[in-house]
Amino acid sequence: MATRPNDTSPAQTARALVRPEIARIEGYVPGEQPRGDGFIKLNTNENPYPPSERVRKAIVEACDRLVLYPDPTAREVREIAARLYDLDADGVVVGNGSDELLSILVRAVVGPGEGVAYPVPTYSLYDTLVALHDARSVRVPFPTDFSLPEELERADARLFFICNPNAPSGTVVPIERIDALALARPDAVIVVDEAYADFADRNALALVRRRPNVVVLRTLSKAYSLAGLRVGLALASAELAYELHKVRDSYNVSRLAQAGALAALEDQAAMRRHAERVRTTRARLTKELERLGFQVLPSQANFILARRPGEDLSGVAGALRERKILVRHFREVPDSLRITVGTDAEIDALLAGLRDS
Ligand SMILES: Cc1ncc(COP(=O)(O)O)c(C=O)c1O
Repeated sequence: MATRPNDTSPAQTARALVRPEIARIEGYVPGEQPRGDGFIKLNTNENPYPPSERVRKAIVEACDRLVLYPDPTAREVREIAARLYDLDADGVVVGNGSDELLSILVRAVVGPGEGVAYPVPTYSLYDTLVALHDARSVRVPFPTDFSLPEELERADARLFFICNPNAPSGTVVPIERIDALALARPDAVIVVDEAYADFADRNALALVRRRPNVVVLRTLSKAYSLAGLRVGLALASAELAYELHKVRDSYNVSRLAQAGALAALEDQAAMRRHAERVRTTRARLTKELERLGFQVLPSQANFILARRPGEDLSGVAGALRERKILVRHFREVPDSLRITVGTDAEIDALLAGLRDS
């Protein structure tokens, strides 16, 4: 509907200029990145430890070649990922974070009005990506134990997102169940979002080798301590990756990001050391929270979900914020707090804050 700009607010004018489905939605709201120092950030699942020391050197060296465009398909990153995961380098797509790869997958696979299915609660960006694309969300509730819902398999959908370990619960579903879903639904792409797999005991990489409709997503934002670099990996068959490349921007991963990612992936020991520390602290945090009366789901990620059934914990999150400790509270699970596993000192501060609130 045409409106005269001077009859309306600037916001109404702008909304009338874009597609209705864009005007309608709020947009994804990421966790708070506070200005200033002194915050204990346990709200966006970053790694509390620094990345491999090789990363800085590689990025500084890459600065000498910034006049040139980066490699369009991040060939060296694809090759090292292929070696690490025992896959074909042609099956790897490198993205500007795994968020970009999620977006590429929706755009590549789903037509307007078609379904994208996922168990909920889960990573809330899925809802936003589906809405932006004018596709249809098929949100299938997890049972209380966060096992994979039986009815998911029957969803009217072209694309499935299985976040494993799941956010915000930290729980995992057995790889065999994901395999069964992939087998039952050869008409759909099954995306296993493994942003947190480096903190877990198992992963779905074997399915990429076995099933042509499975895509595994990895990120360097969590276990590799590089959330600021923005690098994610999609692992698929060479043929499916070929299709996904068509949707990608030509130079979607900067020269600096490629250099840093390569150095990080080459230093597996640094990543494993830090992931192990996180797992150790995760066990202690879980025990201490249970002592404070929280129910904690078994987590395989670098965060835990702490619950006090029936209690709205937004006030507790607010009280912690007063002490400059940030945790995540979601409207969808109001009786829970999602807490990133920080350093031991950060976790001590959190526990002291919880005891007082
Ligand atoms: C489940 C899940 N997938 C993907 C991402 C995004 O990762 P990236 O930083 O690689 O875009 C996140 C970030 O928090 C996440 O929780």
